[in-house]
Amino acid sequence: MRIAIIGGSGVYDPGILSNIREERVDTPYGTAVVKVGTYQGEEIGFMPRHGEKHTVPPHRVNYRANIWALKMLKVERVLATAAVGSTNPGYRPGDFVIVNDFLDFTKTRTYTFFEGGEMGVVHTDFTTPYCPELRRLLVETAAGLGIKAHDGGVYACTEGPRFETPAEIRMIRQLGGDLVGMTNVPEVILAHEGGLCYGLIAMVTNMAAGISATPLSHAEVLEIMDQNGKNLRDLIMQTIPR
Ligand code: HPA
Repeated sequence: MRIAIIGGSGVYDPGILSNIREERVDTPYGTAVVKVGTYQGEEIGFMPRHGEKHTVPPHRVNYRANIWALKMLKVERVLATAAVGSTNPGYRPGDFVIVNDFLDFTKTRTYTFFEGGEMGVVHTDFTTPYCPELRRLLVETAAGLGIKAHDGGVYACTEGPRFETPAEIRMIRQLGGDLVGMTNVPEVILAHEGGLCYGLIAMVTNMAAGISATPLSHAEVLEIMDQNGKNLRDLIMQTIPR
């Protein structure tokens, strides 16, 4: 299997994959469930990051099992989606951002496959955390579809599951973060350690705390994801064959 999709909030369904079956993959970190379906004659994997019914909060996702399972299935490319808040006035709700870098403000996660022992001590280069080739394809495909997708943005990952305070958002903005979300660390780290070509399509669902005029809610996040679901699916499905 060459390509897998990791669906974030609002993306629980592989959409246009057909003949879907479920594979349970046992990894050294636990079992991961991957849906496998076909699209244009090719097998594609799909993983809903929070579980099918959004039952797994960001700090409890088994990121290592998920990425290890994709490696075991011989996946080379991962197209991931994430709902994010924006700290950048130029990135508005409904916009897509093809992320090119991250900041880490998480606190309780496991960040690596390399814990010494059998796996050894490995210091992976993170000059390009997100796959440049896949980023280019996503930006080009979005342009072709007439979908507004910003080429690059810095994703700041917070621990959650609560949303941020206004002071945290001011800090993140000052430190160079454009977007805030709760899941991309350690997902992108593990994918990059595993040598996967990993691309992230972030969808802005709200202006971040203190910038937004109203308190944030998960319902608001899901509503914007729902409104843009078709564009997101189109972008993913048109990028896959390229
Ligand atoms: N903060 C953190 N995660 C998010 C947000 C936010 O404002 N919106 C969607 N996911």
